[in-house]
Amino acid sequence: RVLVLDFGSQLAQLIARRVREQHVYCEIVRHDITADRLRELEPMGIILSGGPNSVYEPGAPQCDPELFELGIPVLGICYGMQLACQALGGEVKNVPSREYGRAHCLVEDDSDLFAGVRRDTEVWMSHGDQVTAIDEDFTVLAHTSTCPYAAVRHKRRPVYGLQFHPEVTHTVEGKTLLANFVREVCKCEGTWRLGDFAEETINRIREQVGSDRVICGLSGGVDSSVVAALLARAIGPQLSCILVDNGLLRKDEERAVVEEFSTHFKTDLHVVKGEDRFLAQLAGIVDPQEKRRRIGHEFINCFKEEADKIEDAKYLAQGTLYPDVIESGASADGPADTIKLHHNVGGLPEELGFDLIEPLRDLFKDEVRQLGLQLGLPEEIVWRHPFPGPGLAVRCLGEVTRDKLEMLREADAIVVGEIKAAGLYRSTSQAFAVLLPVQSVGVMGDSRTYDNAVCVRCVNTDDFMTADWSHLPHDLLSRISTRIINEVKGVNRVVYDISSKPPATIEWE
Ligand code: XMP
Repeated sequence: RVLVLDFGSQLAQLIARRVREQHVYCEIVRHDITADRLRELEPMGIILSGGPNSVYEPGAPQCDPELFELGIPVLGICYGMQLACQALGGEVKNVPSREYGRAHCLVEDDSDLFAGVRRDTEVWMSHGDQVTAIDEDFTVLAHTSTCPYAAVRHKRRPVYGLQFHPEVTHTVEGKTLLANFVREVCKCEGTWRLGDFAEETINRIREQVGSDRVICGLSGGVDSSVVAALLARAIGPQLSCILVDNGLLRKDEERAVVEEFSTHFKTDLHVVKGEDRFLAQLAGIVDPQEKRRRIGHEFINCFKEEADKIEDAKYLAQGTLYPDVIESGASADGPADTIKLHHNVGGLPEELGFDLIEPLRDLFKDEVRQLGLQLGLPEEIVWRHPFPGPGLAVRCLGEVTRDKLEMLREADAIVVGEIKAAGLYRSTSQAFAVLLPVQSVGVMGDSRTYDNAVCVRCVNTDDFMTADWSHLPHDLLSRISTRIINEVKGVNRVVYDISSKPPATIEWE
Protein backbone atom coordinates (compact mmCIF):
# COMPACT_ATOMS: atom_id res chain seq x y z
CA ARG A 1 0.00 0.00 0.00
CA VAL A 2 0.82 3.67 -0.34
CA LEU A 3 0.33 6.17 2.50
CA VAL A 4 -0.64 9.83 2.09
CA LEU A 5 0.57 12.09 4.91
CA ASP A 6 -2.07 14.79 5.32
CA PHE A 7 -0.80 18.30 5.96
CA GLY A 8 -4.31 19.76 5.99
CA SER A 9 -4.98 19.70 2.26
CA GLN A 10 -8.51 19.62 0.90
CA LEU A 11 -6.97 17.39 -1.78
CA ALA A 12 -5.53 14.60 0.39
CA GLN A 13 -8.59 12.43 -0.21
CA LEU A 14 -8.39 13.05 -3.90
CA ILE A 15 -4.76 11.90 -3.94
CA ALA A 16 -5.78 8.68 -2.17
CA ARG A 17 -8.57 8.09 -4.67
CA ARG A 18 -6.26 8.65 -7.62
CA VAL A 19 -3.79 6.11 -6.23
CA ARG A 20 -6.58 3.57 -5.73
CA GLU A 21 -7.61 4.15 -9.33
CA GLN A 22 -4.20 2.65 -10.15
CA HIS A 23 -5.36 -0.46 -8.24
CA VAL A 24 -2.96 0.30 -5.43
CA TYR A 25 -4.45 0.40 -1.95
CA CYS A 26 -3.93 3.80 -0.34
CA GLU A 27 -4.70 5.30 3.06
CA ILE A 28 -4.42 8.74 4.62
CA VAL A 29 -2.45 9.12 7.85
CA ARG A 30 -1.49 11.97 10.15
CA HIS A 31 1.33 14.18 8.96
CA ASP A 32 3.32 13.63 12.16
CA ILE A 33 3.39 9.84 11.96
CA THR A 34 6.83 8.71 13.15
CA ALA A 35 9.46 7.06 10.99
CA ASP A 36 9.32 4.08 13.38
CA ARG A 37 5.61 3.62 12.80
CA LEU A 38 6.18 3.90 9.06
CA ARG A 39 8.84 1.21 9.31
CA GLU A 40 6.25 -1.06 10.96
CA LEU A 41 3.56 -0.27 8.39
CA GLU A 42 6.00 -0.94 5.52
CA PRO A 43 4.27 1.14 2.84
CA MET A 44 5.56 0.78 -0.72
CA GLY A 45 5.46 4.56 -1.11
CA ILE A 46 4.75 7.77 0.79
CA ILE A 47 3.02 10.86 -0.57
CA LEU A 48 3.26 14.17 1.30
CA SER A 49 0.11 16.19 0.58
CA GLY A 50 -0.24 19.90 0.02
CA GLY A 51 -1.35 22.17 2.85
CA PRO A 52 -2.39 25.72 3.65
CA ASN A 53 0.67 26.69 5.74
CA SER A 54 4.14 27.97 4.95
CA VAL A 55 6.86 25.44 5.82
CA TYR A 56 9.10 28.14 7.35
CA GLU A 57 6.44 29.48 9.75
CA PRO A 58 6.79 28.55 13.41
CA GLY A 59 4.33 25.80 14.25
CA ALA A 60 3.79 24.78 10.60
CA PRO A 61 3.04 21.04 10.39
CA GLN A 62 6.23 19.07 9.80
CA CYS A 63 6.97 15.45 9.07
CA ASP A 64 9.48 13.24 10.85
CA PRO A 65 12.66 14.10 8.87
CA GLU A 66 13.83 10.53 9.34
CA LEU A 67 11.20 9.35 6.91
CA PHE A 68 13.48 10.45 4.07
CA GLU A 69 16.08 7.98 5.34
CA LEU A 70 13.86 4.90 5.18
CA GLY A 71 14.58 4.10 1.56
CA ILE A 72 10.83 4.20 0.85
CA PRO A 73 9.99 6.33 -2.22
CA VAL A 74 8.54 9.72 -1.26
CA LEU A 75 6.54 12.08 -3.48
CA GLY A 76 6.01 15.58 -2.07
CA ILE A 77 3.19 17.59 -3.61
CA CYS A 78 3.23 21.40 -3.26
CA TYR A 79 3.67 21.93 0.54
CA GLY A 80 4.97 18.35 0.65
CA MET A 81 7.63 19.17 -1.94
CA GLN A 82 8.61 22.28 -0.01
CA LEU A 83 9.01 20.21 3.15
CA ALA A 84 11.12 17.61 1.39
CA CYS A 85 13.36 20.24 -0.17
CA GLN A 86 13.70 22.14 3.08
CA ALA A 87 14.65 18.93 4.88
CA LEU A 88 17.18 17.85 2.27
CA GLY A 89 18.94 21.07 1.39
CA GLY A 90 16.76 23.64 -0.33
CA GLU A 91 15.25 27.01 0.37
CA VAL A 92 11.55 27.88 0.40
CA LYS A 93 10.24 31.44 0.13
CA ASN A 94 7.14 33.40 -0.53
CA VAL A 95 7.40 34.65 -4.09
CA PRO A 96 5.79 37.67 -5.69
CA SER A 97 4.85 35.59 -8.73
CA ARG A 98 2.45 33.36 -6.80
CA GLU A 99 0.68 31.01 -9.18
CA TYR A 100 -2.96 29.96 -9.13
CA GLY A 101 -4.43 28.08 -12.05
CA ARG A 102 -3.18 26.51 -15.23
CA ALA A 103 0.51 26.76 -16.16
CA HIS A 104 2.68 25.40 -18.95
CA CYS A 105 5.23 23.01 -17.63
CA LEU A 106 8.35 22.16 -19.63
CA VAL A 107 9.77 18.73 -18.91
CA GLU A 108 13.58 18.55 -18.75
CA ASP A 109 14.03 14.93 -17.78
CA ASP A 110 11.55 12.25 -18.78
CA SER A 111 13.42 9.27 -17.41
CA ASP A 112 11.19 7.91 -14.65
CA LEU A 113 8.51 10.11 -13.03
CA PHE A 114 7.83 11.92 -16.29
CA ALA A 115 8.08 8.86 -18.57
CA GLY A 116 5.48 9.14 -21.32
CA VAL A 117 4.59 12.75 -20.41
CA ARG A 118 4.69 15.32 -23.21
CA ARG A 119 7.58 17.83 -23.14
CA ASP A 120 5.17 20.74 -22.86
CA THR A 121 2.30 19.82 -20.60
CA GLU A 122 -0.41 21.74 -18.76
CA VAL A 123 -0.40 21.59 -14.95
CA TRP A 124 -2.45 23.09 -12.11
CA MET A 125 -0.62 25.36 -9.69
CA SER A 126 -1.95 26.73 -6.43
CA HIS A 127 0.74 28.18 -4.21
CA GLY A 128 2.16 31.35 -2.71
CA ASP A 129 5.46 29.80 -1.61
CA GLN A 130 7.88 27.90 -3.77
CA VAL A 131 11.28 26.31 -3.62
CA THR A 132 13.71 29.06 -4.61
CA ALA A 133 17.02 27.23 -4.33
CA ILE A 134 18.15 23.61 -4.15
CA ASP A 135 21.60 22.17 -3.69
CA GLU A 136 23.45 19.86 -6.09
CA ASP A 137 21.82 16.76 -4.54
CA PHE A 138 18.71 17.52 -6.58
CA THR A 139 17.99 17.17 -10.28
CA VAL A 140 15.40 19.46 -11.85
CA LEU A 141 12.82 17.45 -13.80
CA ALA A 142 10.55 20.28 -15.00
CA HIS A 143 9.98 24.05 -14.78
CA THR A 144 7.39 26.68 -15.68
CA SER A 145 7.96 30.29 -16.69
CA THR A 146 7.78 31.47 -13.08
CA CYS A 147 8.73 28.32 -11.19
CA PRO A 148 12.26 27.06 -11.91
CA TYR A 149 11.73 23.96 -9.74
CA ALA A 150 8.29 22.72 -10.77
CA ALA A 151 9.47 19.11 -10.35
CA VAL A 152 12.63 17.75 -8.74
CA ARG A 153 14.26 14.47 -7.75
CA HIS A 154 16.92 13.73 -5.18
CA LYS A 155 19.98 12.15 -6.74
CA ARG A 156 20.70 9.55 -4.07
CA ARG A 157 17.38 9.01 -2.40
CA PRO A 158 14.04 8.05 -3.98
CA VAL A 159 12.56 11.45 -3.07
CA TYR A 160 10.54 13.43 -5.63
CA GLY A 161 8.77 16.77 -5.48
CA LEU A 162 6.05 18.38 -7.59
CA GLN A 163 5.11 22.01 -7.06
CA PHE A 164 1.86 21.50 -9.00
CA HIS A 165 -1.06 19.19 -8.20
CA PRO A 166 -1.08 15.94 -10.20
CA GLU A 167 -4.26 14.77 -8.45
CA VAL A 168 -6.57 17.37 -10.02
CA THR A 169 -7.90 16.81 -13.52
CA HIS A 170 -6.66 20.23 -14.69
CA THR A 171 -3.16 18.73 -14.62
CA VAL A 172 -3.61 17.05 -17.96
CA GLU A 173 -1.08 14.27 -17.44
CA GLY A 174 -1.42 14.01 -13.67
CA LYS A 175 -2.74 10.48 -13.94
CA THR A 176 0.37 9.36 -15.82
CA LEU A 177 2.61 11.02 -13.23
CA LEU A 178 0.89 9.32 -10.30
CA ALA A 179 0.85 6.02 -12.18
CA ASN A 180 4.58 6.36 -12.82
CA PHE A 181 5.18 7.06 -9.15
CA VAL A 182 3.20 4.13 -7.76
CA ARG A 183 3.97 1.62 -10.49
CA GLU A 184 7.50 2.45 -11.65
CA VAL A 185 9.08 4.17 -8.66
CA CYS A 186 7.32 2.36 -5.79
CA LYS A 187 7.05 -0.88 -7.79
CA CYS A 188 3.47 -1.51 -6.70
CA GLU A 189 1.92 -4.26 -8.77
CA GLY A 190 -1.53 -2.72 -8.97
CA THR A 191 -3.46 -5.80 -7.93
CA TRP A 192 -5.94 -4.16 -5.54
CA ARG A 193 -9.44 -4.82 -6.87
CA LEU A 194 -12.87 -4.05 -5.49
CA GLY A 195 -14.04 -7.52 -6.51
CA ASP A 196 -11.49 -9.06 -4.17
CA PHE A 197 -12.55 -6.54 -1.56
CA ALA A 198 -16.13 -7.83 -1.71
CA GLU A 199 -15.08 -11.47 -1.35
CA GLU A 200 -12.64 -10.72 1.46
CA THR A 201 -15.17 -8.58 3.31
CA ILE A 202 -17.88 -11.22 3.03
CA ASN A 203 -15.50 -13.83 4.43
CA ARG A 204 -14.42 -11.51 7.23
CA ILE A 205 -18.04 -10.79 8.20
CA ARG A 206 -18.79 -14.53 8.30
CA GLU A 207 -15.85 -15.15 10.60
CA GLN A 208 -16.66 -12.23 12.86
CA VAL A 209 -20.38 -12.91 13.18
CA GLY A 210 -20.38 -16.69 13.49
CA SER A 211 -23.94 -17.74 14.20
CA ASP A 212 -25.05 -14.43 15.78
CA ARG A 213 -27.73 -12.06 14.48
CA VAL A 214 -26.96 -8.70 12.86
CA ILE A 215 -29.21 -5.64 12.62
CA CYS A 216 -28.80 -3.20 9.76
CA GLY A 217 -30.54 0.16 9.45
CA LEU A 218 -31.81 0.84 5.93
CA SER A 219 -32.41 4.33 4.60
CA GLY A 220 -32.79 3.71 0.89
CA GLY A 221 -29.45 5.42 0.28
CA VAL A 222 -26.59 3.72 -1.49
CA ASP A 223 -24.38 3.19 1.59
CA SER A 224 -26.88 1.34 3.75
CA SER A 225 -28.08 -0.65 0.72
CA VAL A 226 -24.55 -1.81 -0.07
CA VAL A 227 -23.98 -2.75 3.57
CA ALA A 228 -27.22 -4.75 3.52
CA ALA A 229 -26.22 -6.41 0.25
CA LEU A 230 -22.84 -7.47 1.64
CA LEU A 231 -24.42 -8.81 4.81
CA ALA A 232 -27.17 -10.59 2.91
CA ARG A 233 -24.48 -12.35 0.89
CA ALA A 234 -22.40 -13.13 3.95
CA ILE A 235 -24.97 -14.27 6.50
CA GLY A 236 -28.38 -14.02 4.76
CA PRO A 237 -30.84 -15.56 7.27
CA GLN A 238 -29.07 -14.04 10.29
CA LEU A 239 -29.73 -10.49 9.06
CA SER A 240 -32.61 -8.25 10.20
CA CYS A 241 -33.06 -4.82 8.60
CA ILE A 242 -34.90 -1.86 10.09
CA LEU A 243 -36.34 0.98 8.01
CA VAL A 244 -37.68 3.90 10.02
CA ASP A 245 -40.31 5.78 8.02
CA ASN A 246 -40.12 9.17 9.72
CA GLY A 247 -42.77 10.72 7.49
CA LEU A 248 -40.03 12.95 6.08
CA LEU A 249 -39.10 10.76 3.15
CA ARG A 250 -39.54 11.68 -0.50
CA LYS A 251 -42.60 10.70 -2.53
CA ASP A 252 -43.07 6.91 -2.68
CA GLU A 253 -39.68 6.39 -1.10
CA GLU A 254 -40.70 3.95 1.59
CA ARG A 255 -42.60 1.83 -0.91
CA ALA A 256 -39.66 1.86 -3.35
CA VAL A 257 -37.18 0.81 -0.66
CA VAL A 258 -39.40 -2.03 0.54
CA GLU A 259 -39.96 -3.19 -3.03
CA GLU A 260 -36.33 -2.99 -4.06
CA PHE A 261 -35.32 -4.61 -0.86
CA SER A 262 -37.64 -7.55 -1.09
CA THR A 263 -36.65 -8.27 -4.68
CA HIS A 264 -32.94 -8.06 -3.99
CA PHE A 265 -32.44 -9.63 -0.62
CA LYS A 266 -34.89 -11.89 1.05
CA THR A 267 -34.19 -11.17 4.68
CA ASP A 268 -36.19 -10.12 7.66
CA LEU A 269 -37.35 -6.49 7.14
CA HIS A 270 -38.98 -4.35 9.82
CA VAL A 271 -40.63 -1.09 8.76
CA VAL A 272 -41.35 1.33 11.60
CA LYS A 273 -44.25 3.65 10.76
CA GLY A 274 -43.12 6.68 12.71
CA GLU A 275 -44.77 9.58 10.87
CA ASP A 276 -47.13 10.63 13.68
CA ARG A 277 -44.41 10.50 16.30
CA PHE A 278 -41.97 12.58 14.28
CA LEU A 279 -44.58 15.17 13.30
CA ALA A 280 -45.67 15.49 16.92
CA GLN A 281 -42.04 16.17 17.88
CA LEU A 282 -41.75 18.81 15.17
CA ALA A 283 -44.97 20.69 15.93
CA GLY A 284 -44.26 24.38 16.50
CA ILE A 285 -40.48 24.01 16.00
CA VAL A 286 -38.82 26.41 13.53
CA ASP A 287 -35.16 26.35 14.54
CA PRO A 288 -33.22 24.09 12.12
CA GLN A 289 -30.82 22.69 14.69
CA GLU A 290 -33.66 21.95 17.08
CA LYS A 291 -35.50 20.15 14.27
CA ARG A 292 -32.38 18.07 13.62
CA ARG A 293 -31.97 17.32 17.31
CA ARG A 294 -35.56 16.17 17.77
CA ILE A 295 -35.53 14.05 14.61
CA GLY A 296 -32.24 12.45 15.65
CA HIS A 297 -33.61 11.68 19.08
CA GLU A 298 -36.87 10.21 17.81
CA PHE A 299 -34.98 8.15 15.24
CA ILE A 300 -32.93 6.55 17.99
CA ASN A 301 -36.08 5.83 20.03
CA CYS A 302 -37.86 4.20 17.09
CA PHE A 303 -34.81 2.21 16.09
CA LYS A 304 -34.16 1.03 19.61
CA GLU A 305 -37.75 -0.06 20.21
CA GLU A 306 -37.73 -2.11 17.05
CA ALA A 307 -34.24 -3.51 17.68
CA ASP A 308 -35.38 -4.66 21.14
CA LYS A 309 -37.98 -6.85 19.45
CA ILE A 310 -35.31 -8.69 17.50
CA GLU A 311 -34.05 -11.43 19.75
CA ASP A 312 -30.40 -12.31 20.16
CA ALA A 313 -29.08 -9.48 18.00
CA LYS A 314 -25.43 -8.92 18.79
CA TYR A 315 -24.15 -6.73 15.97
CA LEU A 316 -25.19 -3.48 14.32
CA ALA A 317 -24.03 -2.86 10.75
CA GLN A 318 -23.44 0.74 9.65
CA GLY A 319 -22.48 2.36 6.38
CA THR A 320 -19.59 4.48 7.68
CA LEU A 321 -17.35 5.53 4.78
CA TYR A 322 -13.65 6.34 4.68
CA PRO A 323 -14.18 10.12 4.49
CA ASP A 324 -16.25 9.91 7.74
CA VAL A 325 -13.44 7.98 9.37
CA ILE A 326 -10.86 10.53 8.29
CA GLU A 327 -13.01 13.52 9.18
CA SER A 328 -13.81 12.24 12.65
CA GLY A 329 -10.10 11.59 13.21
CA ALA A 330 -11.07 8.05 14.14
CA SER A 331 -8.62 6.09 12.03
CA ALA A 332 -5.61 4.83 13.95
CA ASP A 333 -3.22 7.16 12.18
CA GLY A 334 -5.82 9.68 11.01
CA PRO A 335 -5.31 13.45 11.04
CA ALA A 336 -5.73 14.84 14.54
CA ASP A 337 -8.09 17.68 13.79
CA THR A 338 -11.74 17.09 13.31
CA ILE A 339 -12.14 18.91 10.03
CA LYS A 340 -15.91 18.87 9.80
CA LEU A 341 -18.48 18.86 12.54
CA HIS A 342 -20.53 15.87 11.56
CA HIS A 343 -24.20 16.58 11.49
CA ASN A 344 -25.37 13.16 10.51
CA VAL A 345 -28.72 12.46 12.10
CA GLY A 346 -28.82 8.82 11.03
CA GLY A 347 -26.05 7.98 13.49
CA LEU A 348 -26.78 5.67 16.38
CA PRO A 349 -25.22 6.00 19.80
CA GLU A 350 -23.00 3.44 21.44
CA GLU A 351 -25.42 2.84 24.31
CA LEU A 352 -27.51 0.66 22.05
CA GLY A 353 -25.06 -1.96 23.20
CA PHE A 354 -24.24 -3.64 19.91
CA ASP A 355 -20.85 -4.46 18.48
CA LEU A 356 -20.35 -2.52 15.28
CA ILE A 357 -19.75 -3.88 11.81
CA GLU A 358 -18.63 -1.20 9.36
CA PRO A 359 -17.71 -2.98 6.16
CA LEU A 360 -17.33 0.23 4.10
CA ARG A 361 -14.91 1.99 6.46
CA ASP A 362 -12.08 1.82 3.95
CA LEU A 363 -14.00 2.96 0.87
CA PHE A 364 -14.76 6.21 -0.89
CA LYS A 365 -18.27 6.95 -2.15
CA ASP A 366 -17.50 6.18 -5.79
CA GLU A 367 -15.98 2.85 -4.72
CA VAL A 368 -19.15 2.07 -2.75
CA ARG A 369 -21.20 2.70 -5.89
CA GLN A 370 -18.97 0.37 -7.93
CA LEU A 371 -19.25 -2.25 -5.22
CA GLY A 372 -23.03 -1.88 -5.27
CA LEU A 373 -23.06 -2.56 -9.03
CA GLN A 374 -20.81 -5.59 -8.53
CA LEU A 375 -23.15 -6.93 -5.87
CA GLY A 376 -26.01 -6.66 -8.35
CA LEU A 377 -27.88 -3.67 -6.88
CA PRO A 378 -30.01 -1.81 -9.44
CA GLU A 379 -28.71 1.48 -10.89
CA GLU A 380 -31.71 3.18 -9.32
CA ILE A 381 -30.20 2.59 -5.88
CA VAL A 382 -26.55 2.84 -6.82
CA TRP A 383 -26.82 6.30 -8.38
CA ARG A 384 -29.40 7.76 -5.99
CA HIS A 385 -28.51 11.27 -4.85
CA PRO A 386 -27.65 11.64 -1.18
CA PHE A 387 -30.58 12.54 1.03
CA PRO A 388 -30.06 14.08 4.48
CA GLY A 389 -31.00 12.11 7.61
CA PRO A 390 -33.55 14.76 8.73
CA GLY A 391 -35.12 14.42 5.30
CA LEU A 392 -37.70 16.86 4.03
CA ALA A 393 -37.85 18.60 7.43
CA VAL A 394 -34.80 20.71 6.53
CA ARG A 395 -36.28 21.50 3.13
CA CYS A 396 -39.60 22.60 4.56
CA LEU A 397 -38.44 25.89 6.02
CA GLY A 398 -40.01 27.00 9.28
CA GLU A 399 -42.52 24.76 11.01
CA VAL A 400 -43.05 21.33 9.48
CA THR A 401 -46.67 20.32 8.91
CA ARG A 402 -48.34 17.50 7.04
CA ASP A 403 -49.81 19.87 4.42
CA LYS A 404 -46.52 21.58 3.74
CA LEU A 405 -44.75 18.22 3.45
CA GLU A 406 -47.36 17.07 0.96
CA MET A 407 -46.76 20.14 -1.24
CA LEU A 408 -43.00 19.76 -0.98
CA ARG A 409 -43.14 16.05 -1.82
CA GLU A 410 -45.11 16.67 -5.01
CA ALA A 411 -42.85 19.53 -6.11
CA ASP A 412 -39.74 17.51 -5.34
CA ALA A 413 -40.98 14.53 -7.37
CA ILE A 414 -41.46 16.85 -10.36
CA VAL A 415 -37.94 18.29 -10.05
CA VAL A 416 -36.31 14.86 -9.84
CA GLY A 417 -38.60 13.33 -12.48
CA GLU A 418 -37.87 16.06 -15.04
CA ILE A 419 -34.13 15.95 -14.40
CA LYS A 420 -34.16 12.18 -14.90
CA ALA A 421 -36.25 12.55 -18.07
CA ALA A 422 -33.70 15.05 -19.42
CA GLY A 423 -30.93 12.49 -18.77
CA LEU A 424 -29.18 14.81 -16.32
CA TYR A 425 -29.68 12.94 -13.03
CA ARG A 426 -26.26 11.23 -13.09
CA SER A 427 -24.41 14.42 -13.95
CA THR A 428 -25.96 16.42 -11.11
CA SER A 429 -24.94 15.62 -7.55
CA GLN A 430 -28.13 16.64 -5.78
CA ALA A 431 -31.42 18.00 -7.11
CA PHE A 432 -34.46 18.80 -4.98
CA ALA A 433 -37.21 21.24 -4.08
CA VAL A 434 -37.34 23.50 -1.03
CA LEU A 435 -40.62 24.92 0.27
CA LEU A 436 -39.96 28.53 1.23
CA PRO A 437 -41.71 30.22 4.15
CA VAL A 438 -42.90 32.92 1.78
CA GLN A 439 -46.26 33.71 0.22
CA SER A 440 -46.51 35.95 -2.79
CA VAL A 441 -49.16 37.35 -5.06
CA GLY A 442 -49.99 35.67 -8.34
CA VAL A 443 -52.73 35.52 -10.89
CA MET A 444 -54.34 32.29 -12.05
CA GLY A 445 -57.13 32.54 -14.59
CA ASP A 446 -59.00 35.64 -13.54
CA SER A 447 -58.30 35.42 -9.85
CA ARG A 448 -55.64 36.78 -7.63
CA THR A 449 -53.71 34.17 -5.64
CA TYR A 450 -51.62 34.52 -2.54
CA ASP A 451 -49.69 31.27 -2.37
CA ASN A 452 -46.40 29.54 -1.56
CA ALA A 453 -43.05 29.72 -3.34
CA VAL A 454 -40.91 26.69 -4.15
CA CYS A 455 -37.19 26.91 -4.74
CA VAL A 456 -35.44 24.43 -7.05
CA ARG A 457 -31.92 23.55 -5.83
CA CYS A 458 -29.49 21.58 -8.03
CA VAL A 459 -25.77 21.34 -7.42
CA ASN A 460 -22.67 19.77 -8.86
CA THR A 461 -19.92 18.73 -6.50
CA ASP A 462 -17.25 16.09 -5.95
CA ASP A 463 -17.02 16.24 -2.21
CA PHE A 464 -20.13 18.11 -0.93
CA MET A 465 -17.80 20.49 0.94
CA THR A 466 -17.78 22.89 -1.99
CA ALA A 467 -20.43 22.94 -4.71
CA ASP A 468 -21.53 24.91 -7.74
CA TRP A 469 -25.14 25.41 -8.74
CA SER A 470 -26.01 23.31 -11.79
CA HIS A 471 -26.29 25.26 -15.01
CA LEU A 472 -29.43 23.45 -16.16
CA PRO A 473 -30.91 24.17 -19.60
CA HIS A 474 -33.56 26.89 -19.50
CA ASP A 475 -36.18 24.77 -21.22
CA LEU A 476 -35.81 22.15 -18.48
CA LEU A 477 -36.17 24.79 -15.76
CA SER A 478 -39.17 26.13 -17.56
CA ARG A 479 -40.83 22.67 -17.71
CA ILE A 480 -40.16 22.16 -14.01
CA SER A 481 -41.65 25.54 -13.16
CA THR A 482 -44.75 25.10 -15.31
CA ARG A 483 -45.44 21.64 -13.97
CA ILE A 484 -45.00 22.60 -10.31
CA ILE A 485 -47.31 25.61 -10.63
CA ASN A 486 -49.94 23.63 -12.57
CA GLU A 487 -49.79 20.43 -10.58
CA VAL A 488 -49.00 21.39 -7.00
CA LYS A 489 -51.92 23.03 -5.33
CA GLY A 490 -50.88 25.95 -3.14
CA VAL A 491 -47.78 26.94 -5.13
CA ASN A 492 -47.84 29.94 -7.48
CA ARG A 493 -44.14 30.77 -7.82
CA VAL A 494 -40.92 28.82 -8.55
CA VAL A 495 -37.40 30.20 -8.18
CA TYR A 496 -34.00 28.70 -9.01
CA ASP A 497 -31.15 28.87 -6.49
CA ILE A 498 -27.98 30.19 -8.14
CA SER A 499 -25.73 30.28 -5.07
CA SER A 500 -22.60 28.20 -4.77
CA LYS A 501 -21.14 26.68 -1.61
CA PRO A 502 -19.42 28.43 0.03
CA PRO A 503 -20.78 30.91 0.99
CA ALA A 504 -24.22 29.26 0.75
CA THR A 505 -24.75 25.64 1.80
CA ILE A 506 -26.43 22.98 -0.30
CA GLU A 507 -29.43 22.64 1.98
CA TRP A 508 -31.36 25.74 3.06
CA GLU A 509 -31.44 24.83 6.73
P1 XMP B 1 -24.78 21.43 3.37
O1 XMP B 1 -26.19 21.90 3.44
O2 XMP B 1 -24.06 21.48 4.70
O3 XMP B 1 -24.87 19.89 3.00
O4 XMP B 1 -24.00 22.09 2.27
C1 XMP B 1 -23.79 19.09 2.62
C2 XMP B 1 -24.30 17.67 2.39
O5 XMP B 1 -24.74 17.13 3.62
C3 XMP B 1 -26.12 16.79 3.56
N1 XMP B 1 -26.71 17.17 4.85
C4 XMP B 1 -27.02 16.29 5.81
N2 XMP B 1 -26.93 14.94 5.83
N3 XMP B 1 -27.85 14.96 8.00
C5 XMP B 1 -27.35 14.28 6.94
O6 XMP B 1 -27.32 13.05 6.98
C6 XMP B 1 -27.96 16.30 8.05
O7 XMP B 1 -28.41 16.87 9.05
C7 XMP B 1 -27.53 17.00 6.88
N4 XMP B 1 -27.48 18.31 6.56
C8 XMP B 1 -26.98 18.39 5.30
C9 XMP B 1 -26.68 17.60 2.39
O8 XMP B 1 -27.83 16.98 1.82
C10 XMP B 1 -25.50 17.61 1.45
O9 XMP B 1 -25.41 16.40 0.72
